[in-house]
Amino acid sequence: MTLVNIKIEGVPYQVENGLTILEAAKACGYEIPSLCAFNHGECNQGSCRVCLVEATGARGLVASCVYPVNEGMEIRISSPAATQARRRSVELLLSNHNQNCQQCDKNGQCELLHVAQITGAREGAFAGVHSETYLDELAPGLIRDTSKCILCGRCIARCSNAHGLGILGFENRGFRTFVAPAENRSFADSPCIQCGQCVNVCPTGALMEHSEIAKVDAALRAGKHVVVQAAPAVRAALGEEFGYPVGTPVTGKMIAAMRRLGFERVYDVNFGADLTIMEEGTELLHRLTEGGVLPMITSCSPGWVNYAEYNYGDLLDHLSSCKSPHQMQGAVIKSYWAEQKGYDPKDVFVVSVMPCVAKKYERQRDVMNVNGIDDVDAVITTRELARMIKRAGIIFNRLPDEEWDGDIMGDYSGAGVIFGVTGGVMEAALRTVYFKLTGKEYGRVVFEEVRGHDAGIREASIDINGTVVNVAIASGMKSAKVLLDEIREGKSKYHFIEIMGCPGGCINGGGQPYIRPVFLPNEDDNILDTYKEKRAQALYSEDERQTVRQSHNNPQIIELYEKFLGEPNSHKAHELLHTTYAAREGFNDVSK
Ligand code: SF4
Ligand code: SF4
Ligand code: SF4
Ligand code: FES
Repeated sequence: MTLVNIKIEGVPYQVENGLTILEAAKACGYEIPSLCAFNHGECNQGSCRVCLVEATGARGLVASCVYPVNEGMEIRISSPAATQARRRSVELLLSNHNQNCQQCDKNGQCELLHVAQITGAREGAFAGVHSETYLDELAPGLIRDTSKCILCGRCIARCSNAHGLGILGFENRGFRTFVAPAENRSFADSPCIQCGQCVNVCPTGALMEHSEIAKVDAALRAGKHVVVQAAPAVRAALGEEFGYPVGTPVTGKMIAAMRRLGFERVYDVNFGADLTIMEEGTELLHRLTEGGVLPMITSCSPGWVNYAEYNYGDLLDHLSSCKSPHQMQGAVIKSYWAEQKGYDPKDVFVVSVMPCVAKKYERQRDVMNVNGIDDVDAVITTRELARMIKRAGIIFNRLPDEEWDGDIMGDYSGAGVIFGVTGGVMEAALRTVYFKLTGKEYGRVVFEEVRGHDAGIREASIDINGTVVNVAIASGMKSAKVLLDEIREGKSKYHFIEIMGCPGGCINGGGQPYIRPVFLPNEDDNILDTYKEKRAQALYSEDERQTVRQSHNNPQIIELYEKFLGEPNSHKAHELLHTTYAAREGFNDVSK
């Protein structure tokens, strides 16, 4: 590493050569405001101009996010010219911005407000005409409100980096520019997979999840039997909304908070995850031993299912027919659970707390009901749960640690917990398949990076009674595409593939708390590189604490089959727990 000598505000420093001024200043302990620059150059438009500084050797002010340091450079962040220029840049953004902060769910985590505060920008400094704006509320998963867009381009970069997709782009030119799917269509009318990765990086309220909090409020007010179920990845990230270090599991406090919000029962989706493993493991076993379509591909990620239906309609028979864990559990709550409680299923309202935005879409698919009764009635994200907790005045950090409700579907195994991590579904299913074929328990699956691919694909080979089962995992559609094209070309060597819509799996879902270094002053500088591992570790540690670590050993799952479902893949199980897919007409392969 070559070092160069620079000065910031007259103080000498040595920094790595090749860094931008913005990065070098950060390494030396200065925050220069920035908006369009994000995540080590993932997005670097150089367009917002809120990062302007003075630097020797440059003519006038420079955008510190794109200008590199060099030997002997003297940088002035706080000179009157730089300070005023940055403030003006922010005031210009505010002058064409819908400033309804009181009604905006981004308030409190808005980067535009943050830079306005630190630059001293004041609204109304530039009066003038506002550009025409558009509000897209048609998609179940996400909302686009161009009146709050600052044209930073982060969403465009993220869609491309995570999925190789180009759903969003700049439309029009000059003052009339806005960000939208092609031809300003709704997300609902484009091959957007509704993963919410773009929402995760948007600095303002221009892209948000489609909130279902009002629906939950209405059900609680109406006196329904409102049951909440939370996915594993939620407990690994919810604490971040309340100041806990990234990767702190807050299961007990989350349960206590949900109870105080008025839910009649508080269940873990891990029971549903165990059920999925029983069904999916059995399906895999049948396909392996009776010559079914291989490789079988997991189907619990609705973002991935969307992608498959839009782009790989010819491969849909490779997908497992299993519903995802929360849909399965919802179907069981509305049938077996309601029956046990003596409730009419129409009076039962199921809320899923998910790390995922696409789950809002998934629950509204017309195949996600049994005899016209929806499996799940509302999906709220981890962020929305945090909002509900804050709105209720609950002081999260002071809550006691409480336990899940334990009746009927309260037990879960470690296998269910690791569903939230990439590779977790595969590992959980293999534990059960291995047991069914050998009568022995399987330990930890060790995956290796696939050489020759630069797509983050990992694979493993498991010897089950002399039969080698080849498995692979991919997350993010860019990686998935590599494996899917191999299948299409007849070159796939795999028997079982796990695909997750979001890079890193559910712990990095589009509904998880925002990771913004400026709002996480106690985290390391490299938090954007490490947060996925930290959240994943929170789940692995919970798996290791469980005494039951295989789904087939969960006593309440055994009881559910004995008393209600019969056996895995039975007729009744199919009616409640399995689904179908359909290729979407009118869209072709949009990936690059
Ligand atoms: S995006 Fe930020 S500045 Fe705009 S309305 Fe929302 S909170 Fe206010
Ligand atoms: S939701 Fe996902 S697929 Fe749709 S635009 Fe955003 S990043 Fe792209
Ligand atoms: S929608 Fe959000 S991320 Fe996309 S350009 Fe606008 S402000 Fe940036
Ligand atoms: S952060 Fe540098 S121009 Fe936007």
